[in-house]
Amino acid sequence: LQGNASSDNKLQKVCEILQQEFEHYDWVGFYFADHDKRLLHLGPFAGEPTDHTTIPFGKGICGQVAESNANFVVPDVKAQDNYIACSITVKSEIVVPLFKDGVNIGQIDIDSHMIDPFTPEDERLLEWVNAKVAEIL
Ligand code: SME
Repeated sequence: LQGNASSDNKLQKVCEILQQEFEHYDWVGFYFADHDKRLLHLGPFAGEPTDHTTIPFGKGICGQVAESNANFVVPDVKAQDNYIACSITVKSEIVVPLFKDGVNIGQIDIDSHMIDPFTPEDERLLEWVNAKVAEIL
């Protein structure tokens, strides 16, 4: 994550690399929190454009992670009541919060077309990615 590009360009690259390198990562994006308005805003992403560029805290998997500060692994999105569907092809999702100086400033969100593909290894990888990303923000 070193170079002269802006942090957005770096985050874009992170999304593209993750999406390309991991077969079960079909959509990879970052959301960032506006704590005053209690809204998440979509940042760089790789994959199909989504209508959900703004998500209120508490809504959907992403909005829940904005409040819980905890990883959220969803093996099967159909089993979730509080879920925002982006595409009917999405079967599962993982959201890992991004902490900067101990504050939950956003998250990485990954959608998969596979059922139940995410393991603790994905959680550790994405925690590591987010820690590295926090260093450049
Ligand atoms: N499914 C998410 C919404 C964001 S899209 O996956 C890009 C959710 O329930 O919060």
